Amino acid sequence: PEKIILDCDPGHDDAIALLLAHGSPQIELLAVTTVMGNQTIEKVTRNALAVARVAGITGVPFARGAHRPLVRPIETAPSIHGESGLDGPVLPEPTIELDARHAVQVIIDTVMAHEPGTVTLVPTGALTNIALAARLEPRIVERVKQVVLMGGGVHVGNWSAVSEFNIVIDPEAAHIVMNEAWPLTMVGLDLTHQALATPEVAAAIAAVGTGPARFVGELLDFFGQTYRDAQGFEHPPVHDPCAVAYVIDPSIMTTVRAPLDVELTGALTVGMTVADLRGPAPEGCTTRVAMNLDNDRFWALVVDALERIADP
Ligand code: BDR
Ligand code: CA
Repeated sequence: PEKIILDCDPGHDDAIALLLAHGSPQIELLAVTTVMGNQTIEKVTRNALAVARVAGITGVPFARGAHRPLVRPIETAPSIHGESGLDGPVLPEPTIELDARHAVQVIIDTVMAHEPGTVTLVPTGALTNIALAARLEPRIVERVKQVVLMGGGVHVGNWSAVSEFNIVIDPEAAHIVMNEAWPLTMVGLDLTHQALATPEVAAAIAAVGTGPARFVGELLDFFGQTYRDAQGFEHPPVHDPCAVAYVIDPSIMTTVRAPLDVELTGALTVGMTVADLRGPAPEGCTTRVAMNLDNDRFWALVVDALERIADP
């Protein structure tokens, strides 16, 4: 299995990403780290621990990370994820304890403790922790296998006309992460807007019939409603598990190798991710952008993972 660290801000789709990582036999979840974003760091960390209880995840360190972006003031997303960051289902009291270390330290310790080229970082929130980790221990950049992040977009934004939430709330962190030399795949809105939780998807998840699957159904009900009300989507795009799915099976999406950067100073375009798609990519280019998703195989991976998670 592929070893991953999931760095997340649960968040409805982050919670589903966590369940996919936990349930997939192709993933070995080494650690879960949290970062402010969809809600404050206290709330998203509590949510991560609650999801761990729902899915019976034990023996995996969970660590709290950055409480604010590197430069800009904190911005959260209650219009999408509610006041708790995970509104909808009743959240159980967490039963596992947080790791005593800061998330950034857990990322560094975990990467350095494993063989070079074996650990994949999967950020599904702002890139604050990942940027801090790269600065605190630069050797992780060579040591990781790759970074597969959910964020950004080439042809579309969601928090402004051209910027995506995870990137625009901490563009300086994204700038650090995208300009390091590690192999990096951006699973952005071009891709994730194809991962729609249609009624057929909801029915397939409901048919699994377990507590964790019902929990996902409740998440999708709430998330579907806010995406209808706030963003005009008929069915919600379930972004974050797409990054995990790429690690499980890269053949479920097409990617294009292209230079990638993030805008920090534009009057209208702060947080825009800019991919140079003129091609061919220059020698040594280590960044890729995800484009097209095999939607059926994506949801089959999610359902398969849920079927493997027993009722705790
Ligand atoms: C991203 O923003 C968050 O609200 C979601 O969890 C996802 O990571 C989508 O723009
Ligand atoms: Ca997220």
